[in-house]
Amino acid sequence: MRIGVLTGGGDCPGLNAVIRAVVRKGVSVYGHEFVGFRDGWRGPLEGETMPLDIQAVRGILPRGGTILGSSRTNPIKIEGGVDRIKENLATTGVHALIAIGGEDTLGVAKQLYDRGVNVVGVPKTIDNDLSGTDYTFGFDTAVNIAMEAIDRLHTTAESHHRALICEVMGRHAGWIALHAGMAGGANVILIPEKPFDIDRVCEYVESRFRTRYSPIIVVAEGAHPIEGQMALQAGELDAFGHVRLGGIGEVLAREIEKRTGKEARTTVLGHIQRGGTPTAYDRVLATRFGLQAIDAAHEGDYGKMVALRGTDIVRVGLDEATAELKTVPVSRYSEAEVFFG
Ligand code: F6P
Repeated sequence: MRIGVLTGGGDCPGLNAVIRAVVRKGVSVYGHEFVGFRDGWRGPLEGETMPLDIQAVRGILPRGGTILGSSRTNPIKIEGGVDRIKENLATTGVHALIAIGGEDTLGVAKQLYDRGVNVVGVPKTIDNDLSGTDYTFGFDTAVNIAMEAIDRLHTTAESHHRALICEVMGRHAGWIALHAGMAGGANVILIPEKPFDIDRVCEYVESRFRTRYSPIIVVAEGAHPIEGQMALQAGELDAFGHVRLGGIGEVLAREIEKRTGKEARTTVLGHIQRGGTPTAYDRVLATRFGLQAIDAAHEGDYGKMVALRGTDIVRVGLDEATAELKTVPVSRYSEAEVFFG
C-alpha cells in the first residue's frame, strides 16, 4: 500500500519523530511505501510530494520542526479543494493519508474522511487543546522551554526589584501558562478560561513586593481581563478564522506600572516555545503515536485519531477529537491559585 504523510498547522517538536516511526514500522514490518506531502494540506491540494523512505527519516528523531514543511492552508475554504485532493491522491497512487496536526488540520481530516478519503490523524500541538487525548506531543517541550525562561526571569527580577511578565502561547487554552507557571513558581497565572481582575493582579504584585520578592506574572496569549477593565487590540484572522494573538503581556505591564508605581517589563516567548529539539517525553509520545498510526492505516481503521489515555495509546474517532477544544478546567486552575500572591 502507498501511504501519504503530511504535517499541518503550527509546527512543534516531535513531528519528525512521528514521521520516522510511521515510516520505519510501515516499511520494515508491513512493507508499505510512503509519499511525503509538502506543507500541510497544500501538498495534496497541489500534488506537491517528496520521497519518504527509510533513508529520508534517518537522523531526524531529535530534530525540531518538520522535514515535510507545514502551512495553515485550508482546502475546505478553496473552491473544488476536496476534489483536487482526491484527484491528486489517485494520481500519486496514495491509498491512505496520515495527517499529523492540531484542531484545524484534523478538522479537515475529519471532513475529508466524511467525503470518502482514508485518513488517520495524529494529535500534535504545543497548546495541548485537543479533546480525546490526555496530552499532545510538543506540549511538554514548550512547557519546559517556558519554565526555564521563568526560572531565569526570577533571578533578574530579584536584582532589579521589577515585576516581570512572561507571555506564553496556547491560543484559547491556558495549558502552557498553567503548567509552566506552576513549574516555575509564578506569582500569578492568567489564562483565557478565566477572565482576570486587574485589581486582584495588582494586589498579588504588591503583596509579592512586600515580602521582598519580585513578582513573575505568567500570562497566556489568549488571556483577557474582565470585560471593560482594559482596552485590548483586535488581531488578524488566519485561513481557519483564528485571530492572531499576542500583546496582552505588554498591555498588562503598562497597567501594572500605572496602578502600582512599580516597574513592569514583558518577555514574549513566542515561537521559541515551538522550536528546537523535543524533550524525551515528547520523543517517546510522538514515536508511540506514529507506531499506532501506521497500525491503524495498515488495518484500514480510518477516521480515527491516535490518542493517549493514561499510559495507553488508543484510537478515538476524529469526530470526538475535533468536536470541542480541551480547555483548562476550573479545578486545575484552583490548584495553582493556592500559590498566587
Ligand atoms: O497552535 C500553536 C500556536 O503556536 C499557538 O499557540 C499560537 O497562537 C499560534 O500557533 C501561532 O501561530 P503562527 O505561528 O501561525 O503565528
